[in-house]
Amino acid sequence: MNKISEIVSTFFAYLKRPDLYPELRRKIWKNIFNRSSGLRGKEEAEEWCKSSAISERDFIEKVLNTTFVPFEKLFPQEFAAALQAQAKAPVKMGGAGSLSVIYYINEFANAQKSIETGVAYGWSSFAALASLVHRNGTLYSSDMPYILQNQSEDFVGCVIPEKYKSNWDLYRYADKESLPKIFEKASSFDVVHYDSDKTYDGRLWAYNLLWSKLRTGGIFMSDDVGDNAAFKDYCEKNNRKPHIIEFDGKYAGVIIKD
Ligand SMILES: C[S@@+](CC[C@H](N)C(=O)[O-])C[C@H]1O[C@@H](n2cnc3c(N)ncnc32)[C@H](O)[C@@H]1O
Repeated sequence: MNKISEIVSTFFAYLKRPDLYPELRRKIWKNIFNRSSGLRGKEEAEEWCKSSAISERDFIEKVLNTTFVPFEKLFPQEFAAALQAQAKAPVKMGGAGSLSVIYYINEFANAQKSIETGVAYGWSSFAALASLVHRNGTLYSSDMPYILQNQSEDFVGCVIPEKYKSNWDLYRYADKESLPKIFEKASSFDVVHYDSDKTYDGRLWAYNLLWSKLRTGGIFMSDDVGDNAAFKDYCEKNNRKPHIIEFDGKYAGVIIKD
């Protein structure tokens, strides 16, 4: 599909979804007035991440003080079933970050209520829920459908084991609509995991809001913090002391709220 026909198809796909009109308005505005928001400050962000990055093992063992067993080894049957579910899905969606880090931050925070933005196949949801279910906790997720893939909504969360789904509360809108709806259900969270709108402005809007809902002692995590300077600028401006974790050639940022 060339660029023009993609824009036209996207526009008509949005027109069929009144619940996503607010996001359509924002996308039009961004594409006209704020096109550089995705990559703003990428080079400096990558340098900043590289200078302090540690491995997921070091983070889990040295910062969380927990023995590291990779997530896929802790839950081998569920993990194998999840890989099969993803292979069967006829749609291509965004990939996962460090499942071990997500699982262990929920364990560390003794999480009862966690919130995440960005679900796609549901790898991060699977990892958070694997911890939450032991405390009968809840994962609140925000995920906007892939607008150009008709069937994608049927496969959002397809890798999450069925036995975890009663502990999962999914909101299928853009974050700007989902988050206020989630906050009507829960106003404080033990863990925040951000993995949705990766633009500079989208991140800053969500980081500020989600941080205000994180309890003291809770853990804040954002994926792909080397993609632009939003996480770096957020940490510097607010004097946060993040841990940067390198995983699969990408960087995640984690902050423990003290
Ligand atoms: C990288 S994928 C998430 C991967 C997932 N966390 C995992 O570990 O498997 C990003 C997801 O965020 C969704 N998304 C993108 N922009 C969004 C927005 N503004 N609000 C809510 N979801 C959004 C995409 O549709 C996609 O499902």
